Amino acid sequence: MDHFLYRDGVLHAEDVPLPEIAATVGTPFYVYSTATLERHYRLFDEGMAGMDHLVCYAMKANSNQAVLTVMARLGAGADVVSGGEYSRAVAAGFPVERIVFSGVGKTADEMELALSGGVRQINVESEPELRRLSEVAVRLGVTAPIAIRINPDVDARTHEKIATGRSENKFGVPIGRAREIYAEAAGLPGLDVAGIDVHIGSQLTDLGPYERAYGKVAELARVLRSDGHDIRRLDLGGGLGIPYERSNAVPPLPIDYCEVIRRTVGDLDCEIEIEPGRLIAGNAGLLVAGVIYVKAGQDREFLILDAAMNDLVRPAMYGAHHEIVPVTEPVPGSEQATYDVVGPVCETGDTFSRGRKMPSVVEGDLVAFRSAGAYGAVMASEYNSRPLVPEVLVSERRFAVIRPRPAFDEMINRDIIPSWLKG
Ligand code: LLP
Repeated sequence: MDHFLYRDGVLHAEDVPLPEIAATVGTPFYVYSTATLERHYRLFDEGMAGMDHLVCYAMKANSNQAVLTVMARLGAGADVVSGGEYSRAVAAGFPVERIVFSGVGKTADEMELALSGGVRQINVESEPELRRLSEVAVRLGVTAPIAIRINPDVDARTHEKIATGRSENKFGVPIGRAREIYAEAAGLPGLDVAGIDVHIGSQLTDLGPYERAYGKVAELARVLRSDGHDIRRLDLGGGLGIPYERSNAVPPLPIDYCEVIRRTVGDLDCEIEIEPGRLIAGNAGLLVAGVIYVKAGQDREFLILDAAMNDLVRPAMYGAHHEIVPVTEPVPGSEQATYDVVGPVCETGDTFSRGRKMPSVVEGDLVAFRSAGAYGAVMASEYNSRPLVPEVLVSERRFAVIRPRPAFDEMINRDIIPSWLKG
């Protein structure tokens, strides 16, 4: 459920009509609903009730400082994957004891940043990374609390570009070698081995793969404990999918996902961390665009929007589906059209959808891409020198620009012309 509903014939974000934001900010823009962000966080937090847990928001999904502030105030933890994300999390007010540092290739500089600033846990993904982290910790005179990410060789049954739990994927250490690797970690001077980490992929639409992966984690936890490791924390990753296509089956709910956790690892007396990103932010955001032209092609109509692949890359990158709805509510029985929905960028890949059936729209109308709050703005670029798309946060009847659209000059002046090219 989200808070983007038609009221009086106009699509609203909470209590704010979208045309009001468009008149202030121009199009395209992202808009996020605070109430939806909060609701989605609580679904996980309440689903985990009775288990010692921390919901660590995977901020790669949407790392605007205002969104992070909403999460930090709710008491969420943060899952970060770079020095930049760590710094954003700290700046947004996440206590460092709630920041988990994940990622397949952390540099010594990133390790130093986290260890000197403080961190709940670093998730280590390889033997060379274990050794590097131990060296950095010893140099700084601290001990690094760690979990080791295991690769359970489970097929998450999702898009190949976002599946991470198969043995051929770059992530984690093979589960079959876990005992040996934990033994090495325990012998390294700068490390405190606290737990096990796993993340099998993103946009999972069935619970079976979780059940299998978490079952393997539970088994491994018992074995590692019998080997003498003090396994007291399990980081179970993120990945629960959201309904992008209204006509498709609804993916499992957070409450059902939390039941799988309870059933598989609930009796291990561990602190449990989960790292949802998409489910918290995805349906909390829209991308609103204007219709520039409706163009008649040879055998089709092109709906040319002022948003493009640089603003929302998911359709071009993963063939992802986003519902596209007119901001003015279509009256029952109004005309339907079939469009190839495209942006102005100079490549055919800049296509949001082919043959999309939707209510017919005209030049100057506004349309909204649903489910665009996660992996939308964060993946945007300035390709074709299109300034980064602005972001807006709504809370009830208020809205604020939380990242303005850069002026052309700001974009241009970031580049530096070397002295020998001047004059
Ligand atoms: N934890 C780890 C270690 C991750 O790698 C990810 C996502 C998450 C948690 C959060 O997963 P979520 O709950 O958001 O599914 N750009 C792609 C998605 C990439 C996901 C990468 N890792 C997309 O637009 O679909």
